Amino acid sequence: MASLLRATTWGLCPWRGYCSKGTQGALSEGFVAALKAVVGPPQVSMAAAVREQHGQDESMHRCQPPDAVVWPQNVDQVCRLAALCYCQGVPIIPFGTGTGLEGGVCAVQGGVCINLTHMDRIVELNPEDFSVVVEPGVTRKALNTHLWDSGLWFPVDPGADASLCGMAATGASGTNAVRYGTMRENVLNLEVVLPDGRLLHTAGPGRHFRPRPWARRPSARGLGTHLPYVSPGSRKSAAGYNLTGLFVGSEGTLGLITATTLRLHPAPEATVAATCAFPSVQAAVDSTVHILQAAVPVARIEFLDDVMMDACNRHNKLNYSVAPTLFLEFHGSEQALAEQLRRAEEITQHNGAFHFFWAKEAEERSRLWTVRHNAWYAVLALRPGCKGYSTDVCVPISRLPEILVQTKEDLKASGLTGAIVGHVGDGNFHCILLVDPEDPEELHRVEAFAQQLGRQALALHGTCTGEHGIGLGKRQLLQEEVGAVGVETMRQLKAMLDPRGLMNPGKVL
Ligand SMILES: *[C@@H]1O[C@H](CO)[C@@H](O)[C@H](O)[C@H]1NC(C)=O
Ligand SMILES: *[C@@H]1O[C@H](CO)[C@@H](O)[C@H](O)[C@H]1NC(C)=O
Ligand SMILES: *[C@@H]1O[C@H](CO)[C@@H](O)[C@H](O)[C@H]1NC(C)=O
Repeated sequence: MASLLRATTWGLCPWRGYCSKGTQGALSEGFVAALKAVVGPPQVSMAAAVREQHGQDESMHRCQPPDAVVWPQNVDQVCRLAALCYCQGVPIIPFGTGTGLEGGVCAVQGGVCINLTHMDRIVELNPEDFSVVVEPGVTRKALNTHLWDSGLWFPVDPGADASLCGMAATGASGTNAVRYGTMRENVLNLEVVLPDGRLLHTAGPGRHFRPRPWARRPSARGLGTHLPYVSPGSRKSAAGYNLTGLFVGSEGTLGLITATTLRLHPAPEATVAATCAFPSVQAAVDSTVHILQAAVPVARIEFLDDVMMDACNRHNKLNYSVAPTLFLEFHGSEQALAEQLRRAEEITQHNGAFHFFWAKEAEERSRLWTVRHNAWYAVLALRPGCKGYSTDVCVPISRLPEILVQTKEDLKASGLTGAIVGHVGDGNFHCILLVDPEDPEELHRVEAFAQQLGRQALALHGTCTGEHGIGLGKRQLLQEEVGAVGVETMRQLKAMLDPRGLMNPGKVL
């Protein structure tokens, strides 16, 4: 069907080199009529306010609106829209919830923004195989609500209630990755509309792999299950190149993800949250390293620095110690939990922790974690009217203490307002910097600080982005990270899949 349409649309609309001129707002009436013929007139908008809304995400990148916004209802319509844009040379920007942090939806060359949220079906749930297929309009919270009484859940949690397909597109992760992995380990298959309108199933249509049998009882093996529980690539398949892996993290530059097959996990039997404060950054990070080395299967381990704790106290009217603090969460059976808590308390106390609190009841736990969940807003409240910019480096855990201590010093020396919060169990941390959007000089200093931090992470064999992606701002750092041959290979892949350079132009490469 799609290929038939492609053939016909090719004939109907010859290439007009739309984007090579870089002109915006230049969609012809005939082209708009063709969009309307695919999705129906009410599902196409050229209204300024709608376009503005779709030209930005939650970052401080200055963005441009697309020329039109289109709402397809199904994958067939997406294929036809892509084919139409392809043959007219019009850029395509896939749009989910707009919660990205690197300007990934910015329409730098104008074009058509495809808002995929009307496609919101949970297509197929396979509880026995621990997998589910979802469309782009399904967010992680919606999926977990749907799974509520199935005994299963999807643990990847970047904070925002993002679209799961968008999370696949950006290689998202967040607080649970230390135990359950990131999107890279949890995406089993993707349905992708290629720029010319062809449909690709990256692992073959309908394919999802069965987990290892012992993944059913994560707690049964006690402490020792930590590392092997979701070891990346443990799923068996030796069938050629890993196309799924190619599209995870491609940020809409290779195709439009219209469905994703996800690996589900058994919902934890019981959960305990804990928090403790430390005399120094070093002591907090050393504790993290020791907890991981002792193979305590911690589900979340988050670091907040003193500035962040102060901001959180003010914002939430609390009185936690204003000191480097760890927030932890443990999942497992009652018995396993008691043991995990005991080990964690022992290790943190050995590193000089004070005030080790823990909470078991859901309400108490959520009160304890409120601080972590509201961290972004707490920092923003430090200087009302300012925007937040979050750096996102990640280093091997052994190098984490030195880079955190250094960053803290650099931050003080820079005179910028910023706080540190991190998924330290993965070696990933964010420096949330405040910037007055009306002050170009400050903006410049923030960008310079972020670039320098990215380079420090690279020097320690880390990455410039643990989870936010490259988007607009980190293209230079990507080149430094993967090297000339790496970038050249990426460009060749991009040129092969998107020869006209229409998929989300200006991002990643
Ligand atoms: C995308 O479309 C959905 C459904 O109509 C809408 O709720 C959402 O606000 C749109 N996104 C933006 C950025 O306007
Ligand atoms: C292929 O990549 C996907 C997504 O990153 C990953 O989940 C899967 O385990 C990989 N498969 C193999 C066989 O390595
Ligand atoms: C805050 O201070 C009050 C009074 O000193 C105390 O009762 C309460 O436990 C403290 N709360 C926290 C979160 O430390």
